[in-house]
Amino acid sequence: MTTARLDRLLANMGYGSRREVQKLAAQGLVLLDGVRITDAAKHVPVGPDLAWRMTVAGIPLDPPAPLALMMHKPLGVVCSHKEDGERVYDLLPVRWRTRDPALSSIGRLDKDTSGLLLITDDGRLLHRVISPKSHVPKRYLATLERPMDGGEAAIFAAGELMLEGEGKPLAPALLEPLSATSAYLTITEGRYHQVRRMFAAVGNHVAALHRDRIGALELPGDLAPGEHRILTSAESEAIFAAK
Ligand code: URA
Repeated sequence: MTTARLDRLLANMGYGSRREVQKLAAQGLVLLDGVRITDAAKHVPVGPDLAWRMTVAGIPLDPPAPLALMMHKPLGVVCSHKEDGERVYDLLPVRWRTRDPALSSIGRLDKDTSGLLLITDDGRLLHRVISPKSHVPKRYLATLERPMDGGEAAIFAAGELMLEGEGKPLAPALLEPLSATSAYLTITEGRYHQVRRMFAAVGNHVAALHRDRIGALELPGDLAPGEHRILTSAESEAIFAAK
């Protein structure tokens, strides 16, 4: 079990500067297993169980790093720190914005795409999911402007489709039509605007796009747009499991 100095740990979790955390402790507001820790220089054991062993001002501690969560990304918010507009991070608890290590989305969904988004401060998890070597399938529900002509599935499955401005063909992708103008499309890469550009390459236009699955991890039906929750270890494993 690793340990961390209380003031450093809480400051990195967004509870304030180290000085502010020292004050909280001195005021008797930090409890571990029900016992006050007034000296913020004290080392505390850091593990997932700390979130229910420690309270700050009577409230259970936030989960320490490494943290991985899923969000039902709503339409109209952006994943990038650099883009203008409301960001997915603005939908998380305010304190989490100043966590160190910082939280970032695992891959991105466009502003106009909704659905399952993973967010983590765990660099290893992030790289494992986005690495092309992992081949993690991501499933999208696409609603199209025009009826499909029936040839799209073979074109997407061939592994020869070249997107405009790119030098390498796309890996094979699985198209499962649901109606003339809607389909699931499962891809293993994460190129810029990939799904929209794939349909554009076959003369169609995506009117609405929603991601409902990453690996074998499905967006839970009870997670409303804008909501998030921490991944269980079984859910983290499901990302890498075949469906
Ligand atoms: N493909 C897209 O075009 N947009 C997304 O948000 C994700 C995949």
